[in-house]
Amino acid sequence: MTPVTADPIISVRALHRDYRRPRTSLRRPGLVVRALRGVSLDVAPGEKFGIVGESGSGKSTLLRLIAALEAPTSGQVEVLGRSVVGRSERDLGFLRTSLQLVFQDPMSSLDPRMRVRDIVAEPLLAQSHSRGEREDRVCEVLTAVGLGHEAAHRYPHQFSGGQRQRISLARALAPGPRILIADEPVSALDVSLRAQVLNLITDLVESFDLTLVFVSHDLAVVRHVCDRVAVMHEGKIVEQGLTADVYDAPQHPYTQRLVRAVPTLRRALAGATAHDLTASGHRDFPTTGDDPPGAPSRRTSERP
Ligand SMILES: Nc1ncnc2c1ncn2[C@@H]1O[C@H](COP(=O)(O)OP(=O)(O)O)[C@@H](O)[C@H]1O
Ligand SMILES: [Mg+2]
Repeated sequence: MTPVTADPIISVRALHRDYRRPRTSLRRPGLVVRALRGVSLDVAPGEKFGIVGESGSGKSTLLRLIAALEAPTSGQVEVLGRSVVGRSERDLGFLRTSLQLVFQDPMSSLDPRMRVRDIVAEPLLAQSHSRGEREDRVCEVLTAVGLGHEAAHRYPHQFSGGQRQRISLARALAPGPRILIADEPVSALDVSLRAQVLNLITDLVESFDLTLVFVSHDLAVVRHVCDRVAVMHEGKIVEQGLTADVYDAPQHPYTQRLVRAVPTLRRALAGATAHDLTASGHRDFPTTGDDPPGAPSRRTSERP
């Protein structure tokens, strides 16, 4: 394991998580699925840490355990130096503020009946803010994610997929977290929008002084964003290290296969996709594919 110099902000030790398929399951009822099989990792403060692996390798399970959304079968998780395993929801107050998540599909994580301002302000209700402070904070984070404050009065369906992911990011930033966890945040987006959202995430990590844990099945996406990467396979981390080292000289046979299985990866990183991933991202607003900030979406062809 690559040593981290600072005290880790997230520390995971020997984490196991078994699931038993319901007896009513059509596929092998009652079978125990070993989703995590002894995962250990450290994430340093300020790091952009990637987790890559194919579908079903246990990535989302690991994130849910780090966020204490469910309990491990065995093992330890510490966040900000405090154990999160076996704590009551009341004891997890520090985690609910300091660690925020964004998911693949913003439409299912944003309540369609709520206005954007209420969606973004919701995590602030548990904190003792005045109404004025909440409004200021909503305005600040909507501006930070590239949506004007006029977006506050609209509903999620009035935005395109890329803009909805910006709303999710604004909501995650609102309570002032230290850690942002992103589970496949661009996988549901049109390819033309991915670079903008990835660059936005990178910019937000810098400007809000966050630690990022970033999960994707897409090697190119992780390489674009992350300083270090862990490769997951069948519930285990088979390799971890600096992103460039792992991708350029993979040590584990599985990582070697993974890198080889993406024939376009090297070419893409050297050519067109790398250009796509970087060239458009530093514009404030996209010229194609995404709608202007705050404008209702007129696109109907976008994938969910
Ligand atoms: N709640 C659950 N009940 C039963 N099996 C689950 C549950 N959650 C995940 N699994 C299983 O655990 C394994 C890892 O799933 P997951 O963490 O979602 O992988 P990934 O995010 O890498 O695609 C898969 O085999 C999945 O079917
Ligand atoms: Mg997943």
